[in-house]
Amino acid sequence: MARLSVNIDHIATIREARKGNEPDPVAAAFLAELAGCDGIIVHLREDRRHIQERDVEILRKTIKTKLNMEMAATGEMVKIAGKINPDMCTLVPEKRQELTTEGGLDLLGNFAYLKATVSKLQKEKILVSLFIDPDPEQINAAKELKADFVEIHTGTYSNVKTKKEIERELKKIVESVTLASQLGLGINAGHGLNYRNIQPLLNLSEIDEFSIGHSIIARAVLVGFERAVKDMIDLVKTP
Ligand code: PXP
Repeated sequence: MARLSVNIDHIATIREARKGNEPDPVAAAFLAELAGCDGIIVHLREDRRHIQERDVEILRKTIKTKLNMEMAATGEMVKIAGKINPDMCTLVPEKRQELTTEGGLDLLGNFAYLKATVSKLQKEKILVSLFIDPDPEQINAAKELKADFVEIHTGTYSNVKTKKEIERELKKIVESVTLASQLGLGINAGHGLNYRNIQPLLNLSEIDEFSIGHSIIARAVLVGFERAVKDMIDLVKTP
């Protein structure tokens, strides 16, 4: 059965809208864990638009499940990860102007640099996941880079509208998940997933964990955070 890790970046987005101290992502992490999630995910962006170093430091000391820190593969971030020691680092591409992460890493185009980054993090005993598009070339490259996990980017699947497009994107995800599993990679999946579009992915038993943020926080605004997390857990964990 798949696990659910909750991305709490957007709790911090609301806090940063007023540059104050509420709502606190640390409180959200407590509630998500009480609701039964398997892990907490935060993206410490270079521009610190939502999550701050203070959040990651306190989360490291307080959460009881697993901490997955999303980050760009920069020297600054590797240093911070070494200090914080999350259970997993997910390397993502990052652009200042984007509203959210827009696609997977280009592993082939940045091979040598990423290899050094993966190895530095693993030396700190941190599991490394690479956020990539559902593309066999990228999956094979992730294996060559000795990543522990891949996170399959589900954003394109989540954004397309027609039945034909959805089927095309689902096929790519299914083929990528199958290949990653054959290669012995751990498999996470996320971006743009919600209470409806996650359904077909629940049949893919190779997926270890779903990483979901925006749809849970959006529902939480209306029905409460704990219920929003529980509703997603019910979907992910109902056989
Ligand atoms: N996975 C990665 C690598 C991401 O960058 C994000 C967004 O921060 C997510 C998953 C979660 O995406 P969403 O907020 O759309 O659920």
